[in-house]
Amino acid sequence: MQIAHQNWPAVEQYLNSRSVLLIPIGSTEQHGPNGLIGTDHLVAESLARSVGEEMGILVAPTLAYGMSHHHLAFPGSASLSPETLIRVIRDVVTSFARNGFSRFFFINGHGGNVSSIQAAFSDILLDHPSLRLQLASWWLMPEVTDQEKIFFGTENGHHATCGEVAVTWHLYPEDETPIPPGVAPDPETEWPVGPERYRTLFPDGRMGSNPSLSSGEKGKVLFEIARKALVDRIRKFLSRDGADVRKGAGE
Ligand code: NI
Repeated sequence: MQIAHQNWPAVEQYLNSRSVLLIPIGSTEQHGPNGLIGTDHLVAESLARSVGEEMGILVAPTLAYGMSHHHLAFPGSASLSPETLIRVIRDVVTSFARNGFSRFFFINGHGGNVSSIQAAFSDILLDHPSLRLQLASWWLMPEVTDQEKIFFGTENGHHATCGEVAVTWHLYPEDETPIPPGVAPDPETEWPVGPERYRTLFPDGRMGSNPSLSSGEKGKVLFEIARKALVDRIRKFLSRDGADVRKGAGE
């Protein structure tokens, strides 16, 4: 149910009975010496597609760049400024709202996006009070963190985590790259930090993680838990006020 693979009459037909759109959002940034640069958008995208398929909900093209300033001292990372990200989210949501979508569920893969997404939501809702917007960051859902504790204990870390590395290996087994055992440094620091300071404090890019504990099998379990938890959140979101019923084209 990807919007990119529909034609406009098919989207118009969808909008005759439904008003909800899933929007995957992530980042393009380093994930340690063996994690994929696309981790955050690839995982969000796969979750959104899987959930969209199960629930019969259209999925928008992935927003693959996010607010990743702190990773810019590592090659392959690219970042949107918070104000750009807010404007991109606003323009995308209000465009789809003009078509008739009125319920937007963001599936997020990157912590650095959260404050900008929330700022964008507040901004959009000021001018478009009948829209409903919700954010779910997959790795923060308690169902996922509980399982990560079982798999990785205290060594999951905060960036290039065992969990996110495992999920990418489940999705892209051909990209699995082993790493020697060892927990990356995770010094106490103010936050956020700039790119150079980040690289000084976290020299190989990881924050406190030990992805030698990752495996595709664990990733499969975590992906499935995240998928089910998202289905639950989306059902609740849509049941709140008869939400998934079209209420006129935009505002
Ligand atoms: Ni990540």
